[in-house]
Amino acid sequence: MAELREVQITEEKPLLPGQTPEVAKTHSVETPYGSVTFTVYGTPKPKRPAILTYHDVGLNYKSCFQPLFQFADMQEIIQNFVRVHVDAPGMEEGAPVFPLGYQYPSLDQLADMIPCILQYLNFSTIIGIGVGAGAYVLSRYALTHPDTVEGLVLINIDPNAKGWMDWAAHKLTGLTSSISEMILGHLFSQEELSGNSELIQKYRNIIAHAPNLDNIELYWNSYNNRRDLNFVRGGDTTLKCPVMLVVGDQAPHEDAVMADSGGQPQLTQPGKLTEAFKYFLQGMGYMASSCMTRLSRSRTASLTSAASIDGNRSRSRTLSQSSESGTLSSGPPGHTMEVSC
Ligand code: BEZ
Repeated sequence: MAELREVQITEEKPLLPGQTPEVAKTHSVETPYGSVTFTVYGTPKPKRPAILTYHDVGLNYKSCFQPLFQFADMQEIIQNFVRVHVDAPGMEEGAPVFPLGYQYPSLDQLADMIPCILQYLNFSTIIGIGVGAGAYVLSRYALTHPDTVEGLVLINIDPNAKGWMDWAAHKLTGLTSSISEMILGHLFSQEELSGNSELIQKYRNIIAHAPNLDNIELYWNSYNNRRDLNFVRGGDTTLKCPVMLVVGDQAPHEDAVMADSGGQPQLTQPGKLTEAFKYFLQGMGYMASSCMTRLSRSRTASLTSAASIDGNRSRSRTLSQSSESGTLSSGPPGHTMEVSC
């Protein structure tokens, strides 16, 4: 496994008085499926997993996760963890366009690249945070390497392969829409897109004018060709780690996904997500309750409803936690937490 490039940058985040700048370091490693780039923030903390993120289609680690990781309340959490932000191949800033005929990795192969990253960094365990396609990649990784995943935050995951109806709809849309509009329709609801807020304008502009749009289309195709993760209630294929399942209230494809997902809660609701993440980490024994905000302490006390992800769930508007094993988890009780933002 050969390291290709290493770039050292000082992050742009404004510093609080007395704070020293955290250095972000970008690396690339060779894997059996090509090179992958990732950026490391912070330093490894003894006896703690790394937080590893994987972004959705049309985005890179910065456009997907910067608003969440730079959210003020998130700082008290992330200062306790080293973060590894993976860019899917060809999505990193300044990525050259792949040559015509380049065989882009499948989502399963993207998952198979992760051990090369962890081996290179000498990290043994992670807490994964993935959005959309990235949530699928991290779930696949967790299924094949369960001992290395301590927890998963899955935002807007669709664990199923496209059925023929989805394919027909996809083909029809493809006749009248550009790739960038199709990807925007994957990321945001029609309501959000027609509202054309500043956020939508920003992301429309980023995607439509991306110099690597051809690469983005390849990641999009891999996403659309994903196979089922095969999560079946009571079945063999289950995630063994605690899972925080996040669904957006905005719904671009309500029926297709396991929940009313959609929208990008990590962009639009960083506060809610931070609070839920803090609670999730606390459940894993990583955040002292004294660090929690007053709001999340009171919510913690009122968590009662059962939740699973197969549609037969009862769900509180903001937070609920499984009191039985849900479809995504076969671990001890209370391992699946569902958040709707
Ligand atoms: C981080 O602190 O982990 C981070 C900073 C900027 C962008 C993404 C993540």
